Amino acid sequence: KTIALAYSGGLDTSIIVPWLKEHYPGARVVCVAAEIGQGDELEGIKQKAIASGADECYVEDLREEFVRDFIFPTLRAGAIYNRKYLLGTSMARPLIAKRQVEIARMVGADALAHGCTGKGNDQVRFELTYMTFAPDLPVIAPWREWDIRSREDALEYAAKKGVPVAATITKIYSRDRNIWHLSHEGGVLESPANAPLEDMFQLTTDPTTAPNAAEDVVITFEKGTPVAINGETLGPVELLTKINALGAKHGVGRSDIVEDRMIGMKSRGVYETPGGTILYAAHSELEQMVLDRRTLAAKDVIAPRYADLVYEGRWWTTEREAYDAFVNVTQERITGTVTMRLFKGSANVVGRESIHALYDERFVTFGEDDVYEQSDAAGYIRLYGLSQRVRAIKDQELAAE
Ligand code: ARG
Ligand code: SIN
Repeated sequence: KTIALAYSGGLDTSIIVPWLKEHYPGARVVCVAAEIGQGDELEGIKQKAIASGADECYVEDLREEFVRDFIFPTLRAGAIYNRKYLLGTSMARPLIAKRQVEIARMVGADALAHGCTGKGNDQVRFELTYMTFAPDLPVIAPWREWDIRSREDALEYAAKKGVPVAATITKIYSRDRNIWHLSHEGGVLESPANAPLEDMFQLTTDPTTAPNAAEDVVITFEKGTPVAINGETLGPVELLTKINALGAKHGVGRSDIVEDRMIGMKSRGVYETPGGTILYAAHSELEQMVLDRRTLAAKDVIAPRYADLVYEGRWWTTEREAYDAFVNVTQERITGTVTMRLFKGSANVVGRESIHALYDERFVTFGEDDVYEQSDAAGYIRLYGLSQRVRAIKDQELAAE
């Protein structure tokens, strides 16, 4: 038997390795780790997997694909979950799980395993992806089976099984980091009344100590996709890295949310999405200038649905492809530049330009033009207000009786 395990290198997935060995005697355990911009978390991950008892460990660099095929489509859709969450963890799962299945096929695995708890969203996202690409493979989710409940239990099991544990065992928060965001859950956050502690934040500068001078950043979009920062054309990973650094420096992108988990409970999370926050705002500004109001309204209907779909792990569905087809049509003319001013936690638009702008100075000014005939407005208003007039006439007639 061979089991392919989605592996992060953390304690929670490391202890799964000896557990699988114990419960599936003779099984080969192949770890699959995805590089999606976790920073230094992946350092020594292969050795860690092997030291925990794994037979093999694959580390896959998925950053480019993550940004190009998952983050940017979600940005173009304008998808935001629970009015605030920019979906950083949610978007990553379908990609990681898909790659895990590919490796599982390559090594001839006959089961898939993950380290998600039975209380969260991630288990759903992983398993819906498994269903799409490996409906034939059974799923092993140890966190739903064993009686390890706390971090203390996990540490004890790790010690018993000789799993190497990093010196920093006093982990307070449950975190998830990638190139788009960093999430924090647990610790003092578990009471939604508590403000997050400043030392919790890892990406963004405290807005109160951020630079006293504002900084403008110019973002160029091509068909709704960001392609350049301050005039410099960059690939997806480089672009996001650059805008993240600018946002982080100015304390942009902290978001504190009481969130609706799929499984029904509410949970409190704090997110740091520095570059993403700027890109969402800039993209929205460009759309507002280029799209007509009815298309914008239609997009605003799709956006929360797209967000629910991403959050709920339905990435690999006809539904998403259909939304993408719609969104991509709306993005045909979303080409231009937006200038955002970053200052102590805020990112505000201060300028935008597009050759496709529906805003045109020639038509707004009060001078002569051939598109707009002012006398047309009188008839327009008469018909536009027709039902109100009819009602008022009726009321007058009845009052006179
Ligand atoms: N609540 C967020 C989401 O569902 C973040 C989850 C973080 N995941 C984790 N394994 N720490 O998308
Ligand atoms: C987990 O429970 O594995 C992490 C949190 C989540 O999935 O929402």
